Amino acid sequence: MNEVTNNQLDAHGRLQHFLTIEGLSKSTLTEILDRAASFIEPTTQIVSRNNSLQGKTIANLFFEASTRTRTTFELAAKYLGADVLNLNIAVSATQKGETLLDTVLNLQAMQCDLFVIRHHEEGAQQQLAHSVDSVSAIINAGDGCHAHPSQAMLDMYTIRHYKKDFSALKVAIIGDIAHSRVARSQIQALKTFGVDQIRVIAPKALLPARIDELGVQVFDDLTQGLRDVDVVITLRIQRERMQHGAIPDTCEFFHQYGLTDERLAHAKPDAIVMHPGPINRGVEIASSVADGKQSVILHQVRFGIAVRMALMSILLEH
Ligand code: CP
Repeated sequence: MNEVTNNQLDAHGRLQHFLTIEGLSKSTLTEILDRAASFIEPTTQIVSRNNSLQGKTIANLFFEASTRTRTTFELAAKYLGADVLNLNIAVSATQKGETLLDTVLNLQAMQCDLFVIRHHEEGAQQQLAHSVDSVSAIINAGDGCHAHPSQAMLDMYTIRHYKKDFSALKVAIIGDIAHSRVARSQIQALKTFGVDQIRVIAPKALLPARIDELGVQVFDDLTQGLRDVDVVITLRIQRERMQHGAIPDTCEFFHQYGLTDERLAHAKPDAIVMHPGPINRGVEIASSVADGKQSVILHQVRFGIAVRMALMSILLEH
């Protein structure tokens, strides 16, 4: 990870912040999934509530748009009995030039225990973790194209829920890998869990420059890449991170890479279809697939509450 060192573990190897999947062991990732499972009622799959974080204050700082991540972190905090502060960045002192560090230092002075931060700058949360007092924890809710580790963990939870064992799985990730922080974190987590085959399927223009260093199989043909896979993950085109003119034509993209029922038929019959959201229907995925019986997209969202509860409770228990 860039020049910033991985500083999310304390001297005893326990999670102090949650910034990236990189460098975390399989046992740490498994502990997060197991803790999340403890918050889900096994027969109904409803997320349960308790007051274990009563008296704690959690601050959500989202410098980029979000629906799922921000709200599931908020629900997770409330389900654990914590107080939640949602800073509205558009009307905050950020607009008067206050830095992220100064904003966080001020909120620390107001006794916030945990900061959930989404930021457009890669490494912003890692940098912050070096600078703030270690009495509070930081969760990276997405930094530029770099990492989205809580999304990757809810995706791992979903895969484990439906497929039980990671080791023999073939997982395909389709679409804009180049600009996807989700894909990077997913690939790191899938490798840590020992997934047999990780495939990425994308046109050359949507692959990152050093794709060979990621340890994945690369396909530019969708039907070949989908053959016999157990898990299909689709990604949206991240227009907001592209130069004007580099944005692919969405009709052409759907024509070549859109996930349709006919194409999904090349995967195993019991393959699950996932998407981190937001979905763009008719661009990377057909509505019939997004709403179809193999889709677990909305289950991912629900599991996201439990996974985020797990992260908060692990970070704030010591
Ligand atoms: N998956 C995800 O990060 O969605 P939001 O941008 O809505 O938070």
